[in-house]
Amino acid sequence: MTGFQGFRNLFLKTGILALMVGFCAPFSSAKEGMWLPPKLKLHANDMRAEGLEIPVDQLYNANGTGLNNAVVLFGRGCTGEIISAQGLVLTNHHCGYGSVQRLSSMQNDYFAAGFWAKKKSEELPCPGLTVTFVRKMENVTDKITYDLPDTLSESSRNEVINIRVHALEKGYKLSTGLDASIKPFYEGNQYWVILTETYRDIRLVGFPPNGIGTFGGDTDNWMWPRHTGDFSLFRVYAGTDGKPADYNKDNKPYQPKQFFSISTSGYKEGDFAMVYGFPAITREYISQSQLRLITDIQDPIRIELRTKKLDVWNQAMKADRDVFLKYTSKRAGLANGWKKWQGELRGLRLNKVADKKEEQEFAFQAWANSESSLPYARYLLPEIQATTSAVRQALRAEEYIREGALGIELIAQGPAMEKLLEAWRKPKPDELKKVHDAWVGFYKNYDPATDEKLFSVLMPAFFEDAPHYVPAEFYFGLRANNGDYVRWARHVFGTSAFSSEARFNALLASADSNRLLADPAWQLYHAIENIRKQQVLPVLADYARRIQPLNRLYMAAQLAKDSAQRAFFPDANFSLRLSYGHIKGIDPDGPAGYSWQTNLNGVIAKDQPSVEEFRVPEKLKLLYEKKDYGRWSIPYHDTDRTVPVAFLADLHTSGGNSGSPVLNAKGQLIGTNFDRVWEGTMSDLYFDPSVCRNISVDIRYTLFIIEKFGGAGWLLKEMNLVK
Ligand code: ARG
Ligand code: GLU
Repeated sequence: MTGFQGFRNLFLKTGILALMVGFCAPFSSAKEGMWLPPKLKLHANDMRAEGLEIPVDQLYNANGTGLNNAVVLFGRGCTGEIISAQGLVLTNHHCGYGSVQRLSSMQNDYFAAGFWAKKKSEELPCPGLTVTFVRKMENVTDKITYDLPDTLSESSRNEVINIRVHALEKGYKLSTGLDASIKPFYEGNQYWVILTETYRDIRLVGFPPNGIGTFGGDTDNWMWPRHTGDFSLFRVYAGTDGKPADYNKDNKPYQPKQFFSISTSGYKEGDFAMVYGFPAITREYISQSQLRLITDIQDPIRIELRTKKLDVWNQAMKADRDVFLKYTSKRAGLANGWKKWQGELRGLRLNKVADKKEEQEFAFQAWANSESSLPYARYLLPEIQATTSAVRQALRAEEYIREGALGIELIAQGPAMEKLLEAWRKPKPDELKKVHDAWVGFYKNYDPATDEKLFSVLMPAFFEDAPHYVPAEFYFGLRANNGDYVRWARHVFGTSAFSSEARFNALLASADSNRLLADPAWQLYHAIENIRKQQVLPVLADYARRIQPLNRLYMAAQLAKDSAQRAFFPDANFSLRLSYGHIKGIDPDGPAGYSWQTNLNGVIAKDQPSVEEFRVPEKLKLLYEKKDYGRWSIPYHDTDRTVPVAFLADLHTSGGNSGSPVLNAKGQLIGTNFDRVWEGTMSDLYFDPSVCRNISVDIRYTLFIIEKFGGAGWLLKEMNLVK
């Protein structure tokens, strides 16, 4: 890279970072954006004009009374909301799914039966589950990026930044007593510290059966119209001082600083709405050449290999409830990405996003060529283009290795095999027990016969599609079995110590490292890892090293070019964000017409007792027949009544926003976010307000199911229900 070091230095001299501190842009009414709560003041006028009825500092403030104290990071990948003074948390069904799986067995099949505690003492502890509160966020860019001399190489720059980040995190932790984490925003043009508190005694309170909580399954996933009661309830417990504590049966329900009031009076199309949560990752500002890495390579390869994997898993799960219970949680995650990427590719294609980026880049280049204050800018796009083309082949290989060879669970256990070897070689207290426990956990959710089948299906794809990256050892293995993948699979699974818990235990008792080193699973793993370490990972690391500063500068230049005309939100990075917009419907592709809300009649209309995904529980059908809706019904066709189930809004969300509170103009809870529409799954890369919609469960459906279906009306007494 010739010009790069030079123009980076030029950039540093121009000192345009100052430009990025605040926005003075007038806001358009297109509702793209997920905003940093401490910066909502900049949007206050716009939000009020759109319909917000409370001051923005009720949504977030630094003195501990903001509604941010009622939004939680649920586990490691979802959002939840506090809905009572006794630490009750509402989130999605699919967010509680993994925890419930750990509590489930053939005897206690909560996916079939649901779970409803009848009093606090019946709530079930969920080991490992955490709930994290964000107390405060502060812009610390000045404390991280000061005095970085032009002569600094990128790696030294990163080193200095890392040192400052760690020192500052430590300082914040000492001075506040809170956990502190500093994250980059705008591709490293800003840094913010996030001060959090994590509770670790979390208990299951309520969980509808899959017939409600995953109703519609993969068929309806990422689609509208939707009829899923995708919610579950947990409770946060604290030590006697109200602080986070390890599980103890004497812990007390946590008394939160804030909790959401619940609006029972509904909403209508056009009403102001907000979603408050933890979107994980968006990449709205990348160049066309980077977008192509996703659309040409990542998405298609993942879809191809996951289609094969899902075929195998689905069949095995259908045939055997035990396999279902073992695989249901990991399968859901796999299928969720698989379907989303299909929608994403389709949306990007139909909306001609590559062309739009090209147009935008053309304008950018014209601007850059004549922009004397940012002389480096003109080199950025060509440099990004060259850098991305150099990574394409390695990226392709990586996808085939990860989703193909390492998509086979037995081979993917390689690192756990290494840990075992390590524990034998350098015995440390407790280490062997830890390793053993991890393997026990693995076997709890593992079916070797299913994995063997998968081996015989994924291996041929790997050989055919990525022949240059197939290790010699793989060819030997296949040849030794006459080129027959099924035979090869049988041989590997029949002889490996790791494909059977009994053989694993024998190996453990023998503590014989030679046996481990000769194991076929170990050998396959190492053959593929060798290729990966030699030919793939170095190229990817080099790419990351080059693209990171380019992206930072490209972001900075886009901000410099357009900040006066539009507000830029920082890409999602799992930090707390608020999006605002309106309740708004869509005319989906397919036979259904325009709508913005679904109801219980629609659930019943989809009932198909012979199809697991669409099997409505008998008790729900009974409630429907008796119209036993309690307080939760709305008028339906003049003379009838029904219960609202799900609704649409044009709020910008992403993965991680699952379980997020959806709020009305008063900041009251009207629903729980859980998905996006098919037309808009591309919104992590390109948000188009005319087709992007988020899907939420109506809070009245949640309350109806808790009270009438679950018989857990006692929970409603601790909530603040407002008309
Ligand atoms: N698509 C939603 C999300 O990304 C819901 C996923 C859970 N539902 C399912 N059928 N897998 O998480
Ligand atoms: N269902 C997604 C999740 O689990 C949330 C929403 C989305 O990606 O649209 O995070």
